[in-house]
Amino acid sequence: MPEPIIEMENIIKIYPDGVVALKGVDLTIWKGEIHAILGENGAGKTTLMRILYGEIKPTSGAIKINGEEVDFHGPWDAIKRGIGMVYQHFTLIPTFTVLENLHLSLLALDESIKAEDVETLTRRLMDELGLKIPLYDVVEDLPIGVQQRVEIIKTLLRKANILILDEPTSVLTPIEVEELFKMLRKLKKLGITIIFITHKLREVKAISDRVTIMRRGKVVATLYTSKVSEEELARLTVDIDLTSKPKIRGGIRGRRILSINDLWVRDERGLDAVKGVSLELYEGEILGLAGVQGNGQKELIEAIVGIRRAYRGSIKYLDQDITSLSVGDRYKLGISYVPDSRNIGLVYEMNLTENSILTNLHNYLSGIRVINWSEAYRTADKIVREYNVVAPSLRSPIQYLSGGNQQKVMVGREATREPKVFIVSEPTHGLDVRATRFIRNMLVKLRDLGKSILLVSTDLDEIMELSNRIAVIYGGRIMSVGDKNEYTIKKLGLLMGGIHEQRITK
Ligand SMILES: Nc1ncnc2c1ncn2[C@@H]1O[C@H](COP(=O)(O)OP(=O)(O)OP(=O)(O)O)[C@@H](O)[C@H]1O
Ligand SMILES: [Mg+2]
Repeated sequence: MPEPIIEMENIIKIYPDGVVALKGVDLTIWKGEIHAILGENGAGKTTLMRILYGEIKPTSGAIKINGEEVDFHGPWDAIKRGIGMVYQHFTLIPTFTVLENLHLSLLALDESIKAEDVETLTRRLMDELGLKIPLYDVVEDLPIGVQQRVEIIKTLLRKANILILDEPTSVLTPIEVEELFKMLRKLKKLGITIIFITHKLREVKAISDRVTIMRRGKVVATLYTSKVSEEELARLTVDIDLTSKPKIRGGIRGRRILSINDLWVRDERGLDAVKGVSLELYEGEILGLAGVQGNGQKELIEAIVGIRRAYRGSIKYLDQDITSLSVGDRYKLGISYVPDSRNIGLVYEMNLTENSILTNLHNYLSGIRVINWSEAYRTADKIVREYNVVAPSLRSPIQYLSGGNQQKVMVGREATREPKVFIVSEPTHGLDVRATRFIRNMLVKLRDLGKSILLVSTDLDEIMELSNRIAVIYGGRIMSVGDKNEYTIKKLGLLMGGIHEQRITK
């Protein structure tokens, strides 16, 4: 008989602003299982896990760990009971080494612990898990996937035997996802219980033993993963038929709208991140830019948008050289940008409506510096309706929206302008199946209206599904550009790893 390790009973959560996020949730997690939690944006997944981690208090309900009722007053209580949580936004100090970070986190438990002891403990743990992480490297120099492993190790060093991961894969490349899964399987063998939130049905199938599906603050079902198909999961989660995918036509390619010529761009540390990139973007096409994070794609698109200076080369918009134009002037030309991070694209202290007009203020000024709020509310309302944003009101602080709903506001704001050149980075990051489908359809619609879209995504399925053409970036250089039909996921994977086309035999 499976033994329950966590029992959450009739959990209700009403936030101070009156939002009922959980309406009586029961969740039982078995010892040693990998339990996936699936659910539409705003269903209450993060809220439920924050309650389990002691970060917020439920309005009512009971939690038992190993059969014993607990009452957490903060994460430290949860940590002491063996619960560890890894957030999407990591809590490591970027300028510290891995070891310094681990040391720091253990000092909170044991003031006298020495760096040598932390190193010994960590090496032992890494041996057990078959991991190699450079302990003396500075965290910010490590790929995201490795940073995430450091976060997991941090919780394990604090003796966590229950690990909560909230959308851990949305920041990872396909290869990193595989590595994470390998690690999770090892942890499972060591007896660790894992709760895993994701929107990707394939991941649910690949990693979990059981899956709980949530909808609007309630549990719809808990099932053995092996007994449900991806189609059934999609239906249970958001009531969507997976078989109707958007049709990608050849696209009517119009004028060349962007010409990037021999562009060189430096990163924050003054190192060359983009090394002589030449690329063209046409009207009526989606150009997919594939690459492992940290290979210059961020610096490249920031240079196109104007946030970052290119120190050599040129960017032309139709016949106009825009290389030294300001962000605002490029924006007025019709270049819009959705960054890969909501930290950059949204101002958390502002409300939904303010965030809806943030990048387009000049269109809402009536008279001198007076915002036409009724117009602003109309826009916000349009975004909320079209993108199905779940929010208590147009005045809700954006930080109170669930992750996926924040994403919808950010993408909706830029798309609603119908930009001529739309640069989108990880547009479906954190979105549920239905919202993902909606955003992808919207991109195709804009494309069919003759707009130009540069799609940066680590999700190769997304790149393959949407692109007319694909470019692969590696080490700041374009490895390959061509028609979508010339690529397979496997070939993209190799190119993203820097393996040249000539050496690939089909
Ligand atoms: N701090 C908060 N204050 C008020 N309401 C909140 C707060 N955090 C979340 N909510 C609301 O609670 C509901 C559930 O949000 P939650 O973040 O738990 O959803 P989720 O299932 O994690 O969604 P996603 O898949 O988008 O991350 C949403 O309606 C959200 O707006
Ligand atoms: Mg969430």
